Amino acid sequence: MKKRVLSGIRATGRLHLGNYLGAVKGMLELQDNPEYETFYMVADVHTITTPYDVAELKKNRREVIIDYLAAGLDPEKSVIFQQAEVPEHTELAFYFSSVVTIARMQHLPTFKEKVKQHPDSATMALLNYPILMSADILVYKAGLVPVGIDQEPHLEVARVIANNMNAKYGTDFPEPQRFATKGQYVPSLTGEGKMSKSVEGSYINLTDDMGTISSKIARIPTDSGSGIVQNTGGVTQYISNGQIALGTASLVSLASIYDPNFRQQFNSQYESGVRYGDIKKEIGEKIYNDLQEFRNKRKEFEADPSYVDKVIKEGAEKARAVAQQTVKEVKEKMGLG
Ligand code: ADP
Ligand code: TRP
Repeated sequence: MKKRVLSGIRATGRLHLGNYLGAVKGMLELQDNPEYETFYMVADVHTITTPYDVAELKKNRREVIIDYLAAGLDPEKSVIFQQAEVPEHTELAFYFSSVVTIARMQHLPTFKEKVKQHPDSATMALLNYPILMSADILVYKAGLVPVGIDQEPHLEVARVIANNMNAKYGTDFPEPQRFATKGQYVPSLTGEGKMSKSVEGSYINLTDDMGTISSKIARIPTDSGSGIVQNTGGVTQYISNGQIALGTASLVSLASIYDPNFRQQFNSQYESGVRYGDIKKEIGEKIYNDLQEFRNKRKEFEADPSYVDKVIKEGAEKARAVAQQTVKEVKEKMGLG
């Protein structure tokens, strides 16, 4: 039997460069490998775990599917679907919630962070987020999950649940592992943290034009142009005029995703002086060119709504067939069948 893969992205808007390099590139690589059977969804149910707008969600759950298709996910090779169309995910999540403790969920860094962001709406849905994500993966018995490094704590929960279920009920869930890409951590353009939809000014949209990309890259806060390179505990820091230049580190990380030799070349020139204008221009062009095909294909899919409808409908049918089988098995093993 082929090994299964599952991944998903929440329906909070159009995809950005971090989603593309950290998740979608990995999804594409596995889709094109005949050893794997790939399931890729838009995590629309996960979107309701933090405050959201109903009309926006309705629009975005379709937009993400169009982004997937434009990026090259192919319904001939992958099952592409909307999570809410497969109610077995939420059903299995409830069964799974009986094998993890509240304390474990409350201590997750991702949960704590979201509570800080939305102190007045830390709902049960938010606490259950990683359990639903575990169900997304395990309802297909997927062992490989292409996602960015920030999702690692959630995968750890999925492994704990798989083990607990297997030990307690004799199921045969695999322990899901993350499939990493070169862009597993795309830095924010602000110079601090990761590129994210929820941080304004941090991201590049996949459909941005050359001018927009250039001006966003130009705003990465770099230093005076020279300084010293310091390696502390495996992390490279750039010190310019006695200050740690966070934006410089971000720019170098971003450029290194596109050119593996970039960091070494930059580091060897940093002491004598570098020209950020030229570097930024070059990286902006690389990003824009890499996304050319995406932009063209997106226009084609936008102009063909009936094709998109068909993908969504057929994807849900294929996903449901597999998910129903797993839920049936679990119910029987748990004494509910
Ligand atoms: P956001 O933080 O922008 O809301 P999501 O949480 O919806 O993004 O992430 C969707 C997918 O994209 C996940 O697999 C996540 O790991 C990946 N991802 C998001 N931001 C980045 C980033 N800056 N670098 C690498 N991968 C990322
Ligand atoms: N938590 C993921 C994110 O924030 C989205 C997601 C939901 C997911 N279910 C998943 C990712 C299952 C991989 C597998 O991006």
